[in-house]
Amino acid sequence: MSKRDFISVHDLTAAEFTGLLALAGEVKDQPGRFSQALAGQTLGMIFQKSSTRTRVSFEVGTLQLGGHALFLSSRDIQLGRGETISDTAQVLSRYVDGLIARTFDHQDVVDLARVGSIPVINGLTDDLHPCQVMADYLTLTEELGDLAGRKIAYIGDGNNVAHSLMFGAAKAGMHIAVASPAGYEVAEKYAALARDDAAAAGTEILLTDDPAAAAAGAHAVYTDVWASMGQEEEARQRLQDFEGFQVDAELMAEAASDAIFLHCLPAHRGEEVSAEVADGSQSRIFDQVENRLHAQNAIMLWLMGGAGLDTMVN
Ligand code: CP
Ligand code: NVA
Repeated sequence: MSKRDFISVHDLTAAEFTGLLALAGEVKDQPGRFSQALAGQTLGMIFQKSSTRTRVSFEVGTLQLGGHALFLSSRDIQLGRGETISDTAQVLSRYVDGLIARTFDHQDVVDLARVGSIPVINGLTDDLHPCQVMADYLTLTEELGDLAGRKIAYIGDGNNVAHSLMFGAAKAGMHIAVASPAGYEVAEKYAALARDDAAAAGTEILLTDDPAAAAAGAHAVYTDVWASMGQEEEARQRLQDFEGFQVDAELMAEAASDAIFLHCLPAHRGEEVSAEVADGSQSRIFDQVENRLHAQNAIMLWLMGGAGLDTMVN
C-alpha cells in the first residue's frame, strides 16, 4: 500500500478521523502499550517558524513511542539557503522514517509529501493546522462525549486554525459557526471545501461577522491570535480591525451555560481573549496542550507504526 501523509483533516474519511481520535484515547490511557511502536525509527522535524507546543510534543511523543526525533531548523539546514523542497524531501527520505514540517507556504508541505517517499505530517502552514485540531476534537470528545449535533463557535481571524477546525467539525458531526471581521474571513477555497464536507455530513456551517450570533448556544467557543506568525507587521492594524471580537465573559454568556473555552495557544490575554475567560473555569486550554501529545502519537502510530484505524471504528 502506498504511504499516507497527514496534510489536512479534509483528506481524512470520517472513519479515519474517528479512528484517530479513538487511537489517541488509547495512547493516552495505556501509554505502556505503545512504548516500542517506533523502535529504531527517526522522525525529522523541519521548522521554518517558531514553536513551543508542536516541537516539544513531537519530540517527547516520538520518545514515548520508542523512536528518535531530529529537530531541523530551517535556519540551520540547507533548505534555508535555497536548497529546494524537492531535493530536501529526497535527501531526508534516505535518512529518516517520517517528517513533520512547519512551513509558511502550504504548498511546501504538499510538495515534501509528494516528492518524499516517507510519511509527512503538517505541523502548521499559513493555511492549515491539522495536528492542533485533532487535539482539539479529542478534548471536545472528552468534554462532551458524542459530538454529533453539538456546536462549536470560532471567533476571530479566518486563519489556519479556523480552516482546519471547519474540516474537523464536519468529520466530527458538529455544527460550526465562524465569526470574523470583514476582510479577515476564512479563505473561500477552504470555505468551499468545508461546505462540501458539511453537506456530506449533514452538519451546518455558518460564516458571519457577528460574534454573538456565532457563539449563540455553542458548546465550545474557540479563538486564536489576531496576527499569526508572519503577520507581525499587521499586528497594530489588526488590533483596531478586530475590535469587538474578543472572547470575554459577555460573549461566553451567549454560548451554552456549560460551554467550554478553547484556544490553540499562544494566547494574547486582553486581545482575542480576556484573562478572565482564558484562565477561568470554562477554559480547557491546557487540556488541549496535553492532547497534542496523544493525538500526534496516534497520527505517528498510524503513518509510521503500522497501526490500523479501521479496526478502531468497527
Ligand atoms: N498551538 C501550537 O501549534 O503552538 P506552537 O506554535 O507553540 O507549536
Ligand atoms: N494562527 C497561529 C497559530 C499558532 C499555533 C499562527 O499561525 O501563528
